[in-house]
Amino acid sequence: MSYSLSGQRAWVFGGTSGIGLACARVLADAGARVVVVGRSAERMQQALATLPANAVGEALDVADVPALEAALSRHGGIDHAVLSISAGSAIGPYRTLDEDALRRTLEGKFWPVQRVTMAVLRRMSAGSITWITGAAARAAIPGMSALAASNGALHAMVGPLARELAPVRMNAVSPGFIDTPYWERAMDAEARRRTYESMAAMVPAQRVGTPEDIAGAVLLCVGNGFMTGAVIDCDGGRSLV
Ligand SMILES: NC(=O)c1ccc[n+]([C@@H]2O[C@H](COP(=O)([O-])OP(=O)(O)OC[C@H]3O[C@@H](n4cnc5c(N)ncnc54)[C@H](OP(=O)(O)O)[C@@H]3O)[C@@H](O)[C@H]2O)c1
Repeated sequence: MSYSLSGQRAWVFGGTSGIGLACARVLADAGARVVVVGRSAERMQQALATLPANAVGEALDVADVPALEAALSRHGGIDHAVLSISAGSAIGPYRTLDEDALRRTLEGKFWPVQRVTMAVLRRMSAGSITWITGAAARAAIPGMSALAASNGALHAMVGPLARELAPVRMNAVSPGFIDTPYWERAMDAEARRRTYESMAAMVPAQRVGTPEDIAGAVLLCVGNGFMTGAVIDCDGGRSLV
């Protein structure tokens, strides 16, 4: 099954790397006019060089509300928005965390996602919003309670928003461990190799995921007009173990 998004305008926030970049590619390949958003001008340039000509970029930090509003206004209306912004998280046993660590985790993802969603909705009367969340919300992983809270709060909002915002459709895709540049920045090559091996051994799919795995699930949320209120686990079975 393929979808035609010809003539539709899609934004991918966090679209210059990893999962977001793969989402931008499938949406552009399906015919949408795509705007990718990321902070680094260099990453933006590299990303656009790999995307079809119907993708353009806006280099900005979504924390900068005037810049976000100005960029959204430059391109007119929006039909689809995919939010794939990453931020660090407080990781570790709950007893070692303090309130600030939990706040920082929510500041890094939950709040930026709300800010962008609200700004997008001011320019959207139909279409779809897809949040990229994370398997930590459903898999009970010791040391990841902060990440569970941030992504779990997003999951909890999908149903009520799907009803409230209709005909705008609201969905989330919840990835497991995905091989993206995020991990290249987080650990050296040897640590990454060991982590990937142990992550692959843990899940029924017996491998780590690719950005394209997630982009396929996102395309379903964007392209299938009957999809709303769904949280899709695309995690190789991570939330089961
Ligand atoms: N990779 C995984 O294993 C995994 C697992 C579960 C969930 N996820 C979720 O998937 C999403 C994407 O992760 P990823 O691994 O693809 O990360 P990534 O490769 O680091 O990509 C993150 C993207 O977000 C952009 N970004 C980050 N902060 C931004 C900001 N304040 N304003 C504008 N753009 C911003 C980055 O560009 P700039 O840095 O240039 O701004 C980049 O384009 C995240 O929400 C993450 O929590 C990932």
